Amino acid sequence: MSNEQTLSIVKPDAVERNLVEDIKNIFIKNSLNIIDSKKIHITKDEASEFYKVHQSKPFYNDLCAYLSSGPIVVMIENAILANRKLMGATNPKEAEENTIRKLYGISIDKNSVHGSDSLENAKKEIEFFFKN
Ligand code: CMP
Repeated sequence: MSNEQTLSIVKPDAVERNLVEDIKNIFIKNSLNIIDSKKIHITKDEASEFYKVHQSKPFYNDLCAYLSSGPIVVMIENAILANRKLMGATNPKEAEENTIRKLYGISIDKNSVHGSDSLENAKKEIEFFFKN
């Protein structure tokens, strides 16, 4: 089992539809450990800081508005690649069968979950939400 950690988010669309436990269970059943987890509601400024890497993208403003539009659940898990495989492709329409985004995602914006894409970003993202 890998010692690396990743930051995972259950986004507002999935929290609103009471999918947090279902999504956590998919991770757990596939041998991922949820090391820490908390439900929070961030401001648009905080979302803008979190998604800074996307600031040049045309969807940046909508993305930040969306992540701050309702409660989210942020989690630390113990493997980056396993998390990303279970989430599926960013666009639910392109995600493989039985991935979280295929099962629950509504659109590329409301795609239910986020997961860090690299060890470097995972460290930054964990620090961002769990610094205290
Ligand atoms: P996430 O993994 O949280 O990382 C950035 C988010 O931007 C992504 O999931 C999508 O929800 C959102 N997004 C919106 N439009 C696009 C796009 N065209 N390409 C990639 N991500 C997009």
